[in-house]
Amino acid sequence: MRVLFLHPDLGIGGAERLVIDAALALKNCGHTVSFLTNHHDKTHCFEETRNGTLEVKVVGDWIPRNIFGKFYAFCAYFRMVYAAFYVVLFQSKEEKLDLIFCDLISLGIPLLKYAKHNPKILFYCHFPDQLLTKQGGCMKSIYRIPLNYLEEKTTGAADGVLVNSKFTSRIFSETFKSLKITPGVLYPSLVTKSFDQYKTNDNSVDGIAFNAVILLSINRYERKKNLPLALKAFKLLERNLTKQEWDKAHLVLAGGYDSRNLENIEHFNELIAICENLGLKDKVTMLRSPSDEIKIQLLNRCRMLLYTPTNEHFGIVPLEAMYLQVPVIAVNSGGPKETVVHEQTGFLCESTPEDFANAATLIFKDMKLAEKMGVMGRTRVKQRFSFEAFTEKLNQIVRNLINETQ
Ligand SMILES: *[C@@H]1O[C@H](CO)[C@@H](O)[C@H](O)[C@H]1NC(C)=O
Repeated sequence: MRVLFLHPDLGIGGAERLVIDAALALKNCGHTVSFLTNHHDKTHCFEETRNGTLEVKVVGDWIPRNIFGKFYAFCAYFRMVYAAFYVVLFQSKEEKLDLIFCDLISLGIPLLKYAKHNPKILFYCHFPDQLLTKQGGCMKSIYRIPLNYLEEKTTGAADGVLVNSKFTSRIFSETFKSLKITPGVLYPSLVTKSFDQYKTNDNSVDGIAFNAVILLSINRYERKKNLPLALKAFKLLERNLTKQEWDKAHLVLAGGYDSRNLENIEHFNELIAICENLGLKDKVTMLRSPSDEIKIQLLNRCRMLLYTPTNEHFGIVPLEAMYLQVPVIAVNSGGPKETVVHEQTGFLCESTPEDFANAATLIFKDMKLAEKMGVMGRTRVKQRFSFEAFTEKLNQIVRNLINETQ
């Protein structure tokens, strides 16, 4: 089969990782794959799109991304529609396309139906776009009405829809009320290769004692990630530990930080203020955009992961931790409900410092429990979220879709 991937901006993010994995998976199954995108910066992209593993073609990058700093969504949609036109008009006749895999922006789908040889269209919905847009005034709401309407209608035009979790599937149904589609769930997989390659003995991170017992939180510095929960839970942990235990305890917050992003800057400072108020200044280390190597070192070293967001759509970090045999304490909502098994690979808690602190106490005090949970977590990731499992599922979905009408 020949599969074309249509993706707005092939940078470095969760959505990009997913489509690249999907392309690699289908390629491994013997299909021919290629990418068509609006933007691809070779200095800011995943390796596989740069080194020739995956063929990438860029169209429509000249179309502006915003109009006077506004209308980002409109411009992104327009760029994607342009790419869809390109497929319809210039896709060569000899290359028979069997499937077009698109994600993020659904607006081009009705057009793609006019591509030669009637390829099937598969849409991967990471999350309804209209729920991701920042709220802003009355004008913005009016501007969003037609866009939201179009998002719903064009999503419904796909031959198949996939989502990243049962949680997103539920949100999908609640958001796109007119659509009678039950999307299939294709969980993102963990690229375990990168986790196996950093097996280093250099366990030093500035400011953390070599014998510290580390509680780790990995999340971008955004308010919706609820990082203060980790700080408050850590503070409450103190009352459950002996003096010696508490002396060793150390909390590390590590996360993506973009110095051009106002929210990242502000939130980072807010967290520092909370730390100081709680008297935790010397017991907390906050890292900004640590390298993969440092991140994996920390995961290898830490006793547990505190995963604080509520209603996370999927959440890859708990999988990373589980793969490296780290027990995960997460909020009992969203994606983690499907990845973390309560009392086996970690704890699913209420989003309160008390509940998080209690779970952390159990793991802190009971090394055997921590180890047992770690082993079960790794097994779970290997069985359910491996690249092999992902490949098998996707190939099956694609085959079913193509065979439906033949
Ligand atoms: C931690 O301490 C609090 C307050 O003393 C107590 O209610 C709670 O049960 C303790 N948790 C654990 C797991 O020991």
